[in-house]
Amino acid sequence: MKIKKSFGAALVLLAGLALAGAVAAQDKAKAKADAPESANGGYSEEGADTCLGCHEADHTSREGAIFLSRHARPDDARTPFGKGQLQCEACHGPGDAHVNAEDDERGKIIAFNPPASRPAGQLNAPCLVCHGNKARIAWQGSTHDVNQVSCATCHSLHSANDPVLAAATQADVCAKCHKKQMAEIRKPWSHPILAGKVVCSDCHNVHGSNVDKLLVKPTVNQVCYSCHAEKRGPFLWEHQPVAEDCANCHSPHGSTNPALLKKSPPLLCQQCHAAAGHPAIARTGAALPGGTGGGQGFLLAGGCVNCHSRVHGSNHPAGAKLMR
Ligand code: HEC
Ligand code: HEC
Ligand code: HEC
Ligand code: HEC
Ligand code: HEC
Ligand code: HEC
Ligand code: HEC
Ligand code: HEC
Ligand code: HEC
Ligand code: HEC
Repeated sequence: MKIKKSFGAALVLLAGLALAGAVAAQDKAKAKADAPESANGGYSEEGADTCLGCHEADHTSREGAIFLSRHARPDDARTPFGKGQLQCEACHGPGDAHVNAEDDERGKIIAFNPPASRPAGQLNAPCLVCHGNKARIAWQGSTHDVNQVSCATCHSLHSANDPVLAAATQADVCAKCHKKQMAEIRKPWSHPILAGKVVCSDCHNVHGSNVDKLLVKPTVNQVCYSCHAEKRGPFLWEHQPVAEDCANCHSPHGSTNPALLKKSPPLLCQQCHAAAGHPAIARTGAALPGGTGGGQGFLLAGGCVNCHSRVHGSNHPAGAKLMR
């Protein structure tokens, strides 16, 4: 801190500190009143100083690393270490009982004792006192909430860099539980998630959403349009399944087929279009596989899309058959 030389300035500073102290006491009373109730007795007298009587403050220690985090900003009154806040106990809950317990009982009576032995809702309550804003408005009753996934399962609080917030490491956090999707993003064709160019949270709102599969937008297509705007159209000649749901043909996480296709053409297309009666048969005198006769040539690598190249829709006056 800069040392004030003038007596007058020192007085102002002192008065300011006294005032700050009073405000701090008021804030703290309010913070305690706002904090969720707990069975763990009262809050410790000295806040973090009480805890640090036994726990390490050194930033390289597991506990002390909290001081490297966004939460430990004494200059930001909204954070647990801001003026008038409850410091360690803002998250861990009242610590009196823990501090005064017998050694063998101690570990049981504080929140976030590993392995977390409390219901997720109880662990999340203090976080939601400060973070129950718009971003997490849909948390209550969301898929993760209902499945007892606590905030701290995804977020590392005692850390300078929370891996779930960094593009390169986010998927590793989800990988703890979502093995199937992780296997998919490792397939030969996938969104560049492992490269950190696309993250799970570009498409999913993990804090809850009103949409199925926790999507960030009301429909699958709107999610896709946010990056693949050229597929939105409007098209003169629409291809119905495209306008309906991109996932009719694409696996959003990854696939063993090029362009993340669920199946490769012609099989992809033949799920909906019968080969028999294809007009090209009349023009070329050959049938398509699945039908009778020859025509294998149509279906070599790329198959249908060799001719119907505007599979997402066409703006060409003569594009009704999605060929130009
Ligand atoms: C008198 C010493 C002492 C004080 C003061 C103290 N703790 Fe602890 N704390 C311990 C000990 C010892 C353990 C380990 C208990 C065990 O392993 O069973 C522990 C465990 C914990 C744990 C669980 C981690 C683990 O490894 O089991 C948390 C979280 C914790 N303390 C937070 C706090 C907070 C927050 C405060 C301040 C309100 C605090 N402690 C004050 C001694 C103390
Ligand atoms: C922003 C919320 C928050 C604050 C503030 C906080 N902690 Fe924690 N603490 C957690 C969470 C959540 C865990 C569970 C492990 C994790 O996610 O890192 C934890 C874990 C711990 C552990 C167990 C570490 C282990 O071995 O896994 C100790 C001990 C602890 N905290 C002590 C403290 C002390 C002491 C302070 C104050 C100096 C403090 N915490 C401040 C949220 C917080
Ligand atoms: C006393 C209020 C308070 C409590 C309690 C609290 N936080 Fe925060 N947290 C904040 C503030 C303030 C910020 C900074 C927000 C900003 O910059 O807009 C923050 C930031 C964060 C961030 C973003 C960190 C970053 O590096 O950008 C995450 C994630 C977070 N909190 C999660 C949690 C979780 C999980 C808990 C419960 C274990 C928790 N918080 C408890 C006030 C709190
Ligand atoms: C399934 C994993 C997961 C869970 C559970 C989770 N988060 Fe997050 N959180 C994320 C991811 C991923 C981001 C970054 C992308 C985003 O904001 O959606 C994030 C971002 C944040 C941020 C910073 C950005 C912002 O919106 O301000 C805060 C704060 C936060 N989470 C708080 C919480 C709280 C509080 C809870 C518990 C009620 C929680 N999170 C539960 C994964 C999770
Ligand atoms: C601690 C385990 C855990 C972690 C970590 C986790 N999830 Fe989940 N998640 C679940 C459970 C359990 C469900 C509900 C059951 C299911 O659908 O698999 C779920 C559901 C989902 C759903 C909705 C599925 C549906 O059918 O509606 C999405 C999307 C999702 N998680 C994305 C993520 C993302 C993205 C991350 C990483 C930021 C993440 N999850 C981290 C456990 C977890
Ligand atoms: C490009 C957008 C996108 C990205 C990135 C993405 N997802 Fe999805 N995810 C989707 C869509 C769309 C669905 C719904 C699929 C459907 O309806 O067929 C979905 C569905 C899910 C489901 C529900 C089960 C299922 O397969 O239908 C889970 C769980 C999930 N995603 C987890 C993740 C995880 C974890 C990541 C990051 C590793 C991730 N997603 C990345 C778009 C995405
Ligand atoms: C956050 C932005 C983003 C979102 C949202 C998104 N994508 Fe992508 N998509 C990309 C990026 C980046 C690539 C890789 C482009 C490259 O490598 O040139 C890609 C690649 C693709 C490819 C493969 C392109 C090729 O040439 O092989 C397909 C298919 C695709 N996305 C479909 C979808 C679908 C379907 C959705 C909606 C479920 C979607 N994308 C949502 C960013 C996004
Ligand atoms: C009827 C099946 C089908 C549907 C539905 C579909 N696609 Fe495709 N998509 C394809 C095929 C087939 C290819 C490969 C084209 C090729 O090989 O020329 C492709 C390729 C792509 C590509 C990479 C090449 C390019 O054209 O940029 C992107 C990106 C893409 N699709 C995005 C989307 C989006 C976004 C949606 C939803 C609006 C969607 N697709 C719906 C069949 C479909
Ligand atoms: C999920 C089902 C589905 C899939 C998969 C599908 N289509 Fe379609 N397709 C339709 C529907 C529905 C129409 C509209 C039919 C109509 O208007 O009579 C259509 C229309 C067409 C048309 C225009 C037909 C006309 O009469 O105007 C062509 C060409 C076409 N599809 C080609 C393809 C190709 C090529 C593929 C594979 C890349 C494909 N479709 C995959 C459902 C599908
Ligand atoms: C050699 C080029 C070629 C290939 C390959 C091809 N088509 Fe066609 N397709 C055509 C022509 C030409 C028409 C008729 C266009 C017209 O009437 O203007 C047509 C018309 C269609 C129509 C509209 C049918 C109708 O009754 O109007 C559909 C649907 C269709 N094709 C689907 C497919 C599917 C699915 C495949 C792959 C299994 C495929 N096509 C492969 C050339 C091709």
